[in-house]
Amino acid sequence: MKNVIITIGITITISTLLGLTVVYAGLFNVSASWKDPALVRWVLATTRENAVKSRAASIKVPPMKGAQQVEEGFRSFREMCASCHTPPGTPVSPVAKGLNPEPPDLARRAEQMSSAELFWVIKNGIRMTGMPAWGPTHEDAELWNIVAFVKTLPEMSSDDYRTLDQQAPEGHGHSGGGHNDKGSEPGLGDDSHHDDFGGGHTH
Ligand code: HEC
Repeated sequence: MKNVIITIGITITISTLLGLTVVYAGLFNVSASWKDPALVRWVLATTRENAVKSRAASIKVPPMKGAQQVEEGFRSFREMCASCHTPPGTPVSPVAKGLNPEPPDLARRAEQMSSAELFWVIKNGIRMTGMPAWGPTHEDAELWNIVAFVKTLPEMSSDDYRTLDQQAPEGHGHSGGGHNDKGSEPGLGDDSHHDDFGGGHTH
C-alpha cells in the first residue's frame, strides 16, 4: 500500500514537472500553420460536437418566417460570415486560408447540425478558434435570420448565390430590423441582459 502511494506521488510530481516544462520552455508550437495530428483533431472535433449538442438541447427554435427572413439572414451572412465561410462560387479568402482550424463548409455543417446547434455556435462562438461569438453584439432575432439562411445553403448553387448577392443591396436597414450592431452605438448599448449566452434556456 505504501509503495502504491509513493508510486502515485512520484508519477504526479513527474507529470506536473513535465507539464510545467512544456508551458515555460516554449516547447508547444502555437503556430497557426502547424497542422494538429489526427488524434488531436479528433479530440477537438468530438469535444466541440458534444459540447454544442448538450448546450443546444434546451434551445427552443422559434417559427421560421420564410423568404423575407432568409434574405435578412443572407445580408448578415455576407457581412459577418462570408469572409471566413466561403460562399458557393466564391474564391477562398486569405483569412480563411490562414485559419487553423479551417472554417468548415457551412453547406455541409448545415446538413449535419440542427437549427438550435447552429444558433448556439453563432451566438457563443468557439473558443480558441477563429469562430467569433456574435451574441455580445447582435440580437437573437438577427442570429435566427442567419440560421434560416444557413439552412438554405445545402440547396444553393453558385448561380443562386450570385443572384442573391446582386439582388440584395449592401448596407443596413433596407428592409427593417436587419442589422443591429449594439457595439457601434454610443456608450456600447445596454448589455446587461446579455450575460447568459445560452439562448435564454440553458443552465
Ligand atoms: C474570422 C473567421 C470566422 C468568421 C467571421 C465566422 N466564422 Fe464560423 N467558424 C470559423 C472557424 C475557424 C470555425 C471552425 C471551428 C472549429 O473547427 O472548432 C467556424 C465554425 C463554424 C461553424 C461550425 C461549428 C461546428 O460545430 O462544426 C458554424 C455553424 C459557423 N462557424 C457559422 C458561422 C456564421 C453563421 C458566421 C457569421 C455570423 C461565422 N461562422 C463567422 C471562423 C469564422
